[in-house]
Parts: sequence; structure tokens; C-alpha cells
Amino acid sequence: MRILFLGDLHGNWPATLAMEEAIRGLDADDIWFLGDAVGKGPSSDLTCDWVRTHCRHWIGGNWDYGVGGREFSEDGFFWDQLGEERLSWLRGLPPEDELTFSGLRFRLFHGRPLTPLLMADSPREEFEAVLVTDRGRFDGAIFADSHRAFVRTLNGAYVCNAGSVGNNLGVPRAHALLLEDRPLRMTILSVPYDNEAAAEDARKAKVLPHCDAYIREVLTGVYSR
Ligand SMILES: [Fe+2]
Repeated sequence: MRILFLGDLHGNWPATLAMEEAIRGLDADDIWFLGDAVGKGPSSDLTCDWVRTHCRHWIGGNWDYGVGGREFSEDGFFWDQLGEERLSWLRGLPPEDELTFSGLRFRLFHGRPLTPLLMADSPREEFEAVLVTDRGRFDGAIFADSHRAFVRTLNGAYVCNAGSVGNNLGVPRAHALLLEDRPLRMTILSVPYDNEAAAEDARKAKVLPHCDAYIREVLTGVYSR
């Protein structure tokens, strides 16, 4: 069994195409979308449709709900590009799910707005808090949101972050997470893509909100907003 987790595509079409090419040969049994298909980048319509076509399971992220729910007036570019049918789909995404894999019960979510922003070096107590719910205690969490991939062990649990396909920080490549069993393996995929093409897409979309910050993040991996 081989399951792929990815999220935070954020309208970056060159990065999404590079990831599609990289995972084609993996023969994954399932692909989970961990939230944030849209926002930030100039091709949110394309990355939204890619998620709906290529992923079998979907979880909503803070950008999906924010754009889908028309929460912030500065996001008009994305509302116009996506149209009402996609916005309705984004609003209706579930905030979390769960999966038992290799004998471990994982809680699956994006991060915000369900939890605080969880980074690799967040205090252990913050991870412990999201592993205990009214549905019992989980053996691990698989999520995204921080745009930085990592796998970390807690006392009796794993926390796995899939990084970001389209807006990864630290290393500006497309990232995803692969789980395989017998024995359990948790692998971070790091895929190079044409960052300059992604920046050029943003330059062409002249009314893209926070365009300069997005371009800097795509080219350097340095958070810029
Ligand atoms: Fe994100």
C-alpha cells in the first residue's frame, strides 16, 4: 500500500505539473489533498481543478475557506478567476478526516483554521493537543499548512507534514509526503520545477494580490508577507 499526501498548491501551475510528472511513476494507491488548493498564486482555477481530478480525498485549508467564503475583500482576483461553482466546492470541503495505516490511526487535517499553525519546532504540547479529540487519541497526524515538510516523533506518535506543492518555504521546490507499509515508511518528496516560469505567470497576472511577495517566495523560499 502506497498513499500520497499533498497540499498548498496555491495556484502555482508549473509546480503542480512538475509534481504530477514526478508522482506518475509512483503508482500510488490513493492521493489525499490536504488543503489550500487556491490563493496566493495566479492559476488557482487550474490548481483547484487539478485537485478535483487527481485526488480521491479532499480536506479544506484556511485559504480554501477564506477565498471560497469571500471572507477578505482583497481576494477579488481569486473570486473572479474561480467562479461560483468552484467557490461553493471550496466552502464545502471537510475540515478533517482520519486514516488507519500500517496499524496506526492518523488524524488528517490541513492546519489552520482547525488548529494553530504547527511548525517542525513547535512545542510538543501543541502537537499532543491536536492528537486528542472527542473521537479518542490518535497515533499520529498528517497535515500541511506550514509550507515546510517534516516528520517528527512524539511520545508514542508521529507527526508528518507534507510541505507545499506550490509555495514551499525553506527549499523552493514542490513537496509531498509518501506513506508506504511493510515496514512503515514516511518519505518526503522534493521535486524541482521551473520557478522562473511560475514567477513569470504571476507577473502576467497584473492584479494578483501581493504579487511581489508571491514571486519572492517562489524564487527564494523566503516567507515574504
Ligand atoms: Fe497554504
